Amino acid sequence: MKKIVVINGPNLNMLGIREPGVYGDVSLAAIGQQLESLAPQLGFEVEMFQSNHEGAIIDRIHQAYSDADGLLINPGALTHYSYSLRDAISSVNLPTVEVHLSNIHKREEFRHTSVTAPVAIGQIAGFGAYGYELGLLALHKHFGSQGG
Ligand code: DQA
Repeated sequence: MKKIVVINGPNLNMLGIREPGVYGDVSLAAIGQQLESLAPQLGFEVEMFQSNHEGAIIDRIHQAYSDADGLLINPGALTHYSYSLRDAISSVNLPTVEVHLSNIHKREEFRHTSVTAPVAIGQIAGFGAYGYELGLLALHKHFGSQGG
């Protein structure tokens, strides 16, 4: 069974309360429950992690080098400017899928750039909470194509 750490950055603890017109009304806890029910069907175990602190997120990514097989990450606004987060993802060299609830490409200009997407397998954006499930499916497909 492969372990996927689902990492959520700043303000994602506020899902369900925060700008529901943009991010939907599903809480992060509910997203975690959806992923926990999907994961076993894909041969995955998932661990949910959320922090509002860049360093704590980087520490969790470093830890994943020795305790996980892949990452599903919604870096929140860190997506758009955190070179440290990008370097952390590169450092551990784990298969990583980036996910965003909103379609960042049709929002404000500053959200169009992702400094983390270039070190991910790919990016999923605009499908709300369902994007996390798509992200797990994408990792499953990736491991299948690796023969794992
Ligand atoms: C987000 C998009 C980011 O621009 C924003 O800062 C977030 C959430 C998303 O899931 O749509 O915090 O990553």
